[in-house]
Order: sequence, then structure tokens, then C-alpha cells
Amino acid sequence: MKQRVLSGMRPTGALHLGHYHGALKNWVRMQDDFECFYFVADWHALTTHYEERGVMERYVYDMVIDWLAAGIDPERATIFMQSRLPEHAELFTLLAMGTPLGWLERVPTYKDQIDKLKDRDLATYGFLGYPLLQAADILIYKAAFVPVGEDQSSHVELTREVARRFNHLYGRETNFDELAKAVVKKMSKTDAKAFETARKTFQQSGGEELLAQTRALIDGSGALSASDRERLEGYLRGTGKAILHEPQALHTEVKKLPGLDGAKMSKSYGNGISMREEPAEVERKIKRMPTDPARVHRTDPGNPDVCPVWQFHLVYSDASTQAWAREGCTTAGIGCLDCKKPVIEAIQREQAPWRERAEQYLANPKQVHWILEVGTERARGVARATMRDVRAAMGLNY
Ligand code: TRP
Ligand code: SF4
Repeated sequence: MKQRVLSGMRPTGALHLGHYHGALKNWVRMQDDFECFYFVADWHALTTHYEERGVMERYVYDMVIDWLAAGIDPERATIFMQSRLPEHAELFTLLAMGTPLGWLERVPTYKDQIDKLKDRDLATYGFLGYPLLQAADILIYKAAFVPVGEDQSSHVELTREVARRFNHLYGRETNFDELAKAVVKKMSKTDAKAFETARKTFQQSGGEELLAQTRALIDGSGALSASDRERLEGYLRGTGKAILHEPQALHTEVKKLPGLDGAKMSKSYGNGISMREEPAEVERKIKRMPTDPARVHRTDPGNPDVCPVWQFHLVYSDASTQAWAREGCTTAGIGCLDCKKPVIEAIQREQAPWRERAEQYLANPKQVHWILEVGTERARGVARATMRDVRAAMGLNY
């Protein structure tokens, strides 16, 4: 059984190469090793852009088409829409009851974003609560891993605290230990022994690694129901039945692609190349890219380390092309247009299959709706099951 990964993206419209190399590429790769749940975080977009009702629909579909174009495979991954799942809102509400205000006020992105988005009024309840909504998104699917950028680590950390608190408040039954031991007996002799050893070690000295390994052992143990596995998880950690699972952030090594001007690639800065950019447009944009400002004449040697084109080589070129560019630049052996040529070609080559796949979906928007529909129903099955447990644990199943 594969472990579950969950991630979401705010719908910002068509994605650019920065999105692809920073996140989406990794999402595609993870489909091989994990059970992947990827969703459109449209409510999250409303936490900062609540007045923009005209563009959301187009933003959502442009983004999902780019997911599919990049190789997110609806047969393997569950792709769905947050706003179609009121269960997220229900869990958010229930978690909100016991979440101290200070936890939210201390999330570093809270003050950062308020400072950064000065033109917006973010003194809203929704904006303060947004990391808790994210926690609900994650916990409702009992995700083991959450691939996020470094900037979102604090949100995963909050999610873990919220889960811990929930399990502490609502997860303990009086005869918990006996029930858990009965579950251990259902395992094979070797698994049961390995579990007991791991449990003792973990309770003495902790360790995320051991925890992940033992979780995999529990998941791989055939005879256990979902509820059995939760009980064992709680037994392992010494917390009681783990109704909500503490996820781990997954920071995969990604090569960062800056914008055309060297700053962060962003739609609002107008310094991007979109995933489905026309090949001629790619060429035009790269040709106009600024280079080392000290390299005024063709005969002036340049310094790749201060040139944004070099950052593109680091992502797009192999070692020998990189060596050629560096050598040619520093000795004035090549001009900047020569240097840009392999980058242009590599981007165009990368984009060709995306454009092809996207065409098929653009010609048949119903298919995209259908993919989201199927994914949303699949997600709903999982979300509903969690909410049944949550309601029961909180004494709300009357
Ligand atoms: N907050 C994330 C962002 O702004 C998007 C997001 C929402 C998310 N819910 C999530 C990411 C759950 C991972 C898991 O980029
Ligand atoms: Fe930049 Fe290449 Fe020109 Fe050097 S030769 S300044 S690396 S574009």
C-alpha cells in the first residue's frame, strides 16, 4: 500500500515555468511512489482575493489543464476541487473551536503577507484562519506527506500541532491499551515483534525516521482495518487513538528557476514564460532577457554568476553545455545570443509534449470537468469517513 501525499495549489490561471520546476514537476514524479491527492485550493485564493468573482473559473481550468499537460495522470492521482467539498469547511470549523488565536497570529506568513500585500485589506477573519483551513485540507485525508515549498513549512508545523492537540483531547478511550494489544495480535508474528520493538524504542527516544518506518510496517500489515491501524499509530506514539495523522512536510530538492529579469518568476511581475507559451514567443522573450550588465560589447568578457541566463542553463543544460557557456562567457568566446540559443531550444523541447496534451483538453473542456468530478467524488469518500470519526470522537454523532 502506497503512502498518501496531499498538496494543493491556488488557482492563479495558466502556470509558468517557475511553477513547473518549483512544484509541479515534483507532483508528477511523486505519482510513481505515492497515492497522490492534488487539489485546487480555490477557497485559499479567496482568503486574499475575496472580491474577484469574475476570473476564478477560468483560473481554475487553465491551471488544471496545465497539471494534466505536465503529466498529472487522473488514472493514478486524485484531482479535485476544494470548494466542492464542504467537509473541509466542517473540519475547519470544528478545529477552530480549540485552536488558540496565538497559534495563528504567530504563523510567520501571516505578518509577512500583510506587509507584502499592502494594497489589500487582509485584516479579515478568513486570512488569519487560512493556515487552519490548510490544516483541515491535509488532516481530512490523513496524508502522510505534504510536498510544499519552504515558505509553507510553518503551515505543516501548525497542522501537526493541531492534530496532536485533537488526538490528545479526543483520542483516548479508557481501555485503549487493551484494545491496541488486541490489534497487535492480529499481525503476523514477525510484524508484531518488529512493531513492539519499534514502539519501545520510539517511546524512549523518538525519531521521525523510526516513526515513518513503523508506519510503513503498519500499512503493509495485511489483516488490519483502517481503524486498527489508527489505534496502532496511537499506541506507537503513546498518544491514544490517532484520529488525525500528523503529516510530514516533504521538501524535495528542486532547481529554482528565476524570472526573465532574475527576480522570482511571477505572473504579477510580468517576467515569466508560461508553460504553454508559443515557441516564437519563448524565443523572443529569451532573446530580450537582460544579461551581465557589465558585458556591453561582444568583446567584453562576462560573469555568468550575475546573469539570469546562467540560472536557466543550470536548469536546462547538461554539464557540457554549461561548461561551454561558462567558458565562452568568461573569455568572450561567445556572444550572449549564442549563449541563449541552447536555452531557447531546451525550453521549446520541454514544452512540446505539454502543448500537445493541453490541446486535447482545450478541445474538449467537458473532459476536464469530468476528471475533476471523478476526483472530487473519490476525495469525498475519504473526507466523509474522516468526518464520521471526528464527529464520533467529539461526541457529535447523535
Ligand atoms: N497554502 C498553499 C499555497 O498557498 C496551498 C494549499 C492549500 C496547500 N491547502 C494546502 C498546500 C494543503 C499543501 C497542502 O500555496
Ligand atoms: Fe549571460 Fe551567457 Fe551572456 Fe554570459 S554569455 S552574460 S552567461 S547570456
